[in-house]
Order: sequence, then C-alpha cells, then structure tokens
Amino acid sequence: MSFEEVHEKVNERLTRKVDSVCNEFAVDAAKLEELTEYFIESMNAGLQPLPQGQDASTYRNMPMIPSFVTGKPNGSERGLFLAADLGGTNFRVCSVNLHGDHTFTLRQLKSPIPQEFLEDEHVSSHELFSYLARRTSVFLRKHHPEMLLADDGSMPKELKLGFTFSYPVQQKGLGSGTLIRWTKGFKIKDTVGKDVVQLYQRELDAQQLEFVRAVALTNDTVGTFLAHCYRSGDANSADSGEISDPVIGCIFGTGTNGCYMEKIENIKKLPLEFRSQLLREGKTHMIINTEWGSFDNELKHLPSTKYDVAIDQKYSSNPGFHLFEKRVSGMFLGEILRNVLIDLHADGLIFCQYKTYEQLPHRLRSPFELSSEVLSHIEIDDSTGLRETELSLLQALRLPTTPEERAEIQRIVRAISRRSAYLAAVPIAGILIKTDALHQHYHGEVEIGCDGSVVEYYPGFRSMLRHALSLSPLGPDGERKVHIRIAKDGSGVGAALCALVA
Ligand code: BGC
Repeated sequence: MSFEEVHEKVNERLTRKVDSVCNEFAVDAAKLEELTEYFIESMNAGLQPLPQGQDASTYRNMPMIPSFVTGKPNGSERGLFLAADLGGTNFRVCSVNLHGDHTFTLRQLKSPIPQEFLEDEHVSSHELFSYLARRTSVFLRKHHPEMLLADDGSMPKELKLGFTFSYPVQQKGLGSGTLIRWTKGFKIKDTVGKDVVQLYQRELDAQQLEFVRAVALTNDTVGTFLAHCYRSGDANSADSGEISDPVIGCIFGTGTNGCYMEKIENIKKLPLEFRSQLLREGKTHMIINTEWGSFDNELKHLPSTKYDVAIDQKYSSNPGFHLFEKRVSGMFLGEILRNVLIDLHADGLIFCQYKTYEQLPHRLRSPFELSSEVLSHIEIDDSTGLRETELSLLQALRLPTTPEERAEIQRIVRAISRRSAYLAAVPIAGILIKTDALHQHYHGEVEIGCDGSVVEYYPGFRSMLRHALSLSPLGPDGERKVHIRIAKDGSGVGAALCALVA
C-alpha cells in the first residue's frame, strides 16, 4: 500500500471512530424526559430527612441544602457591606454599597487562587483561610483605608461581611455551615467537616481585622438569585427594564449548581418545630441550594462514556460525587476532550507522528491542562483549514495537527458542548415543573438568573440549552416562556444582602 493509501485508510477509520464517539455524547428528547423525571424525584428525595445512619458526607443523592434565606429582597435595601467570594478560580473581596433603589456600587479585588492550594494535598485550612484574610486586608487598605482607622484613633466601626462559599456546605443557620466536601479541584483535607465561617473569622482576627464580622454564609447560586431579585424592577437600567424576580438562580461556570424557593412545608428535613416557627412568623418559602452537580451520582440515568468514568475515577478530587457537574461544567469540558484525544491516539488514529503515549506533548498528557476556553475557539472556528484551531492547540498544548485531525476534533468538541448544554436544561426543566412556575404568573413568563463563564461566554451554549428545553417535557411552548438572564456580580451583591438580614 502506498503512503497515500495508508493515510486514507487511517482517516476513514478516524472518521468512523469519531462518529461513534459523537453518538455516545448525543442526548435525545426521550433521554431529556427520563432525566427530568428523575431530577424531580431526586429533589423530592433530597428534601426528606436523611436516611437512618447517613450524614451529609455519605448521602449520595442531591443534597438539597436549606439556605435559611426565607425572603426575597425588593430593591429598597441599603447600606455598605463587605462580601468575600471563594470560587473555583478566583477569590474576590468586594465592598457593596446598596443604594436602596435597585442599584449598587461595587469595588473589588480579584485574586487568582494560587495553584498550590488546588494541587498540593498537604496545604492546610489555616494556609488557605489565612490567604483569604490577607487578601481581605489588602482590599481594605487599597479601597477603604478610611475604614481601618477611625478619626479619633478608636476601634474602627463594625463592618458586616457576607461570605460566598461555592462548595457544598451543611448550613447550620444563616451565619454558619460545615464543609461537606470540596469540589472543583480543591483537596485540602482538614477543612472538611469544619465551620468555614469560623475558619475565615479566626484568620481575619489574626490580621487585626476583628471589626470585620463574617455574619452570613451563602452559596454563589443563592447570591445570584438574591442579586437578581434586588435588581428586578429597576426601570432605569439598560438591560433590566423588564426584569422580574427569578425562579432559579444558577451557575454554569467552573462548576454548576442552582437554587430555587421551596415551600417550607415541603422541606421535611428541617425539624418540625423549626418549620412551624417559621410558618408562625409568616414565612412561607426558603431558598434551597440543590447542589445539582451531584444529581444522579448513582448513574441510574445520566449518560456515561468511558471518558466520563476515567475522569471521575482517575483524575478528579472527589470520585463518585458531582457526576452531573463532571458532564456539564467548564472545569471538565476540556478534560473530556483530552481523554478522547488520548484514546484516539492509543488506537493509532491521530497524532501518528508520536509513536508512544510518552512521546505525546507533555501538556496533552497533563490532566486539566486543556481549558474550556480553547474548546470555545474550536467550536466556532470557520477559518480555512481550521487555522484558528491549529493555533489554539499549538498554543495551549504545543500540539501540531493536520487539517483532517482538526476537522474531527471540531466534531468532538461540538458533541461535548452540546451534551453539556442539553444536560444543563434538565435541572431547569425539572425545577420549573416541580414548582409549577409556568402557571404561576401572568402569561407564565419566568426568569432564570444565571452566572458563570460557560453560560456567559461559551459560543452557542445558551441557544443549545434553549433547544434542549424545547425538547424537554416543557415543550416549545414552555421554552418560549423562559427568560435566561445573566446576573453578573451576583455573588457579591447577594452576599451583601445576606449580611444585611443576618
Ligand atoms: C459547588 C456548588 C457551586 C457550583 C458553582 C459546585 O462545584 O458544589 O456549591 O454553587 O460549583 O460554583
């Protein structure tokens, strides 16, 4: 066989293999229906008291965590608060001045989370929280030196801080909660089971910032929800003239999660006495942080490929948990692609200039080296010979590719992102159906307040998600009533709002 013939054969085999990989990533209307039904069932199960002998750390279903937030802001809230937000990529400290008219001003300091905190298992809680407290101190010195020293030299005035901590936490009240487990790559063992507000406050005190009181603990989804409520009804804002209160607050970024308001009478996991007390006080609903990243950890219905299994078991810091997140969120999209590429290479179908796995570029062999940002470039590349893709892969992985390889890589990327967006529609459809939200308001229009890099920047993600909503049990009529709004800076404003009521 001539070189050309061999080459053609390999290409044919590659195309066939990629066809079958893409097929494995496909999610159809029947699957969406099955998943939505199971999502609703899982929500109901998660609202019940924990089964005998289980605690939050061993429970494998969706956690459905009561947030202790029982009201929605209406935009008239006022005051200056601090907010701190530990996410998957950055730590942000901000001061939020709520003006009481749906608007606010925000000053912030964003610091990337040092790599060693994510990679090194021996880093301690003390090191992490001390870093957070030091960044808080830097923020105050830079943006609010006036707060550090009262004019007469006396102790500065107390400043309330809302802490957005975007990991599963067993919330004990509005101002405290213990970490159930890390997600999004953190591995620091001695934080698990500890009260994260106390850990942070202790380090703030150590930085002589005793006047900063961490009074509220919230999840980023809850923050996004509350921020959206605060802004709703602002007639002057460019994009929010018609904003109304959201039904869901959600994040599709490094991780994924969502929250919604549940009737207190349905939250059976809260002690009866406490529920009755809330009802006597006239409270009817509480925000539930679903932690939908852990939807179907048992893999009863979620689609699963060998790549998903490898990522969960071999490469993730929380094997067996957050399996929905591992198919949907930004942290994992690139890793899925990397695993597929390694597999195609092992089958002798691509990157044939590298004879063995060990010869492949180091970055291609490194877990989580390929970011979803690279996939977003490949997704929309329409340049001749997919030149943009070529450059992106060279730059990100030092990986040279042929035009044929790139065409197949683009197909895989599109299959991975489509599955992510289609699966993302499941919890949205599930919550809308469970709360009957489409039949509650005039014309049944509903808002979903979203934040996160994937929903905001990944090309086509929102339209694929919408398409999946129309294929889901909501149908095209339901889908048309859903308004997906990006609620930026949600966690800062939301944390400030929590601090206000704490
Ligand atoms: C965490 C959630 C968080 C979500 C989005 C997930 O990994 O478990 O608490 O809301 O990421 O940041």
